[in-house]
Amino acid sequence: MASEAAPGSIGGAGTALPRHVAIIMDGNGRWAKKRFLPRFAGHKAGVEAVRAVTRAARAIGIEAMTLYAFSSENWRRPEEEVSDLMGLLRIFIRSDIDELVQENVRLRVIGDYRRFAPDLVKLVDDAIARTAANSGPILVIALNYGAQAEIAAAARSLAAKVVAGEMAVEAIDDAAIERELDTHDLPPLDLLIRTSGEVRLSNFLLWQAAYAELLFVDTLWPDFDAAALHQAVTTFAQRQRRYGGL
Ligand code: FPP
Repeated sequence: MASEAAPGSIGGAGTALPRHVAIIMDGNGRWAKKRFLPRFAGHKAGVEAVRAVTRAARAIGIEAMTLYAFSSENWRRPEEEVSDLMGLLRIFIRSDIDELVQENVRLRVIGDYRRFAPDLVKLVDDAIARTAANSGPILVIALNYGAQAEIAAAARSLAAKVVAGEMAVEAIDDAAIERELDTHDLPPLDLLIRTSGEVRLSNFLLWQAAYAELLFVDTLWPDFDAAALHQAVTTFAQRQRRYGGL
C-alpha cells in the first residue's frame, strides 16, 4: 500500500521519491464544459481533487506540495469567477483546517495574498498560525502568485541591502537570490506537473523549476486523483537527472 511506502522510495528499492512536487491545476473549466455545467462546478470539483491529491501526497511521503490556486494574472477573469474562486478557498480552509492540524501538516502560502479581502487574509493567517507548530508535510498554496514578481521583489530586497551598506554587490549570487524568494525554506523543487494538456509554465516557480523534472499530462485537474499522482511519482523515479553533468 502507498501509505506504507518509506520516504525516499516508492515502487521498489533505490527509486527516488520527489521531495517537493508542484502542480499547475489546469482544466477545471473544460471539465465543466464537457458536462454542460457552469465553470463554477469545475472549480468545485477541482477542490475535491485538491483534497484527494494532498491526502495521497501525505500517504506517499512527499515532503512539500505547492499548488497554483490563484495566479497574479487570474484577476483578469470575470469578477464573478474571481469571487467564486475566493469563495471556494474560504470553504476549503474552513472545512479542512482541522484535518490539516490533526495530520501534522504545515500550511504555507506563497504570493501576495494580502491583496485579497481582509476576511480572507485573516482566515489564511489564522490557518497558517494554527499549523505553524506542526512538523509534518508542508502544503503550500500559491495565492496571487507570479514568479516574475517574486524574483523582482528579491532583486529589490538585495538592492536595498547593498544601498544600506549591509551587503556587497559581489555577494549577490544564486544562493543570495534564493534566500529572498517566498520558497526559501522549502525543499528544492523536484517535480512540476501541469494538467490538461497545456505545455506552459505560466509564471509559476520559474526560478525554482531550473532543475525540476517537468511533467505535462492530458488529464483535466478534477480528474487528477491519487492514482494519477502515483503515476507521476513513478515517472519521476524513472527520469535520469543530470543537473548539467553526464
Ligand atoms: C485552472 O482551470 C484552475 C484555476 C485557475 C484555479 C484552481 C483552483 C482550484 C482547483 C480551486 C481552489 C483551490 C484550493 C487550493 C482550495 P481553468 O479554469 O483555467 O480551466 P480551463 O483552462 O479548462 O478553462
